[in-house]
Amino acid sequence: MNTNMCLACHSKATAASTGAPTPGDSHFQDRDGNPLDDVSGARYFCAQCHVRRVVADPLVSNTYQGGK
Ligand code: HEC
Ligand code: HEC
Repeated sequence: MNTNMCLACHSKATAASTGAPTPGDSHFQDRDGNPLDDVSGARYFCAQCHVRRVVADPLVSNTYQGGK
C-alpha cells in the first residue's frame, strides 16, 4: 500500500535482474525536461496511464485486434 511495487521490477536499479523493460527517458525527467535519477513524481502512479494485465474474456464481443 505504501510502496510502488511496479518499481520493484521496473526501476533502473532492478530492471537488469528482473528482465523488465526500463521505462523510457520520458519517465525520468522533470517538467522542464531535465534528467532525474528516479522516476518523476508525475509518473509515479503507473496505473494512471498503464493498465494492469489480466487474462479476461471481453464482456462484450468485438473485432479489435492488437499489435497492428
Ligand atoms: C514481478 C516483476 C514485475 C512487476 C511487479 C511489474 N512488472 Fe511490468 N514487466 C515485467 C517484465 C519481466 C516485463 C517484460 C516481459 C513482458 O512483457 O511480459 C514487463 C513489461 C511491462 C511493460 C511493457 C509491456 C509491453 O507490452 O511492452 C509495461 C508497460 C509494464 N511492464 C508496466 C508495469 C506496471 C505499470 C506495473 C505495476 C502495476 C508492473 N509493470 C509491474 C515485470 C514486472
Ligand atoms: C503520464 C502517463 C504515464 C505514467 C504515469 C507512467 N507511464 Fe509508462 N509510459 C507512458 C507512455 C506514453 C509510454 C510510451 C512512450 C514513452 O516511453 O514515453 C510509456 C512507456 C513505458 C514503458 C516502456 C514500454 C516498452 O514497451 O518498452 C515502461 C516499462 C513503462 N512505461 C513503465 C512505467 C512504470 C513502471 C510507471 C510507474 C513508475 C509508469 N510507466 C508511469 C505513460 C506513462
